Amino acid sequence: MKNKIILLSVALLSFLFQSGCSLSIESEPESNAEIIVDTVIDEPKVDYLSVGKDLAMQTKANLGKNLGMALSEKGAAGAVEFCNTRAIPITDSMSIVLNAKIKRVSDKPRNENNQANADELAYIQEWKNAKLKEEVLAPKVTEQNGKMIGYYPIETNAMCMQCHGEPTKQVNKETLSTISKLYPTDKALGYAEGEIRGIFVVEMDKK
Ligand code: HEC
Repeated sequence: MKNKIILLSVALLSFLFQSGCSLSIESEPESNAEIIVDTVIDEPKVDYLSVGKDLAMQTKANLGKNLGMALSEKGAAGAVEFCNTRAIPITDSMSIVLNAKIKRVSDKPRNENNQANADELAYIQEWKNAKLKEEVLAPKVTEQNGKMIGYYPIETNAMCMQCHGEPTKQVNKETLSTISKLYPTDKALGYAEGEIRGIFVVEMDKK
């Protein structure tokens, strides 16, 4: 009997250790939307700039990975629908898993829910100016109402062009028509590679 109890607690402990306390998810994903996490934020002295950067980069990696899968399975027009239904939920679930509030905003949003506010617009403009002057883009962290808020630039690359590039030249007709159907107020076309497309905003509890 005693042995059984010990065995049970060992099993319970190892279950807790694997799934509860550590934030890493290693089990098989249920759908093809995978979430990978490898950060635990509980250091006593927190470097918010780099913690926030890590959270933003993990979110970016998950979005990028899922977008890549959608693109290869469905092509650009189909992947637009994927972004339409999954981009915000994936970002939100990263927020829950990583215990921070993470969002992507832009001065020229496709989804109007991703419109940058006045503070965020100012940061985006700073980064755009820095780019023009060919300066290094430094991420920022500020404190607001007892929260630490990190801002991290998002740049375009070649892959983005099929949905954010020059209409008809880079974004094909089928993709354009899906975009205009789903986003009648879309402002996110006409980008070139290496431009500031928006920012990640990461809101962290101050420890
Ligand atoms: C398959 C088409 C597609 C590709 C490729 C794509 N995007 Fe998007 N992007 C979208 C759609 C659709 C949305 C709106 C998502 C939503 O409704 O939340 C979006 C939204 C965004 C947003 C949030 C702000 C906004 O405009 O709503 C950012 C930032 C962004 N994309 C950056 C990028 C970057 C950077 C790349 C390349 C690395 C990229 N996207 C590649 C379709 C795409």
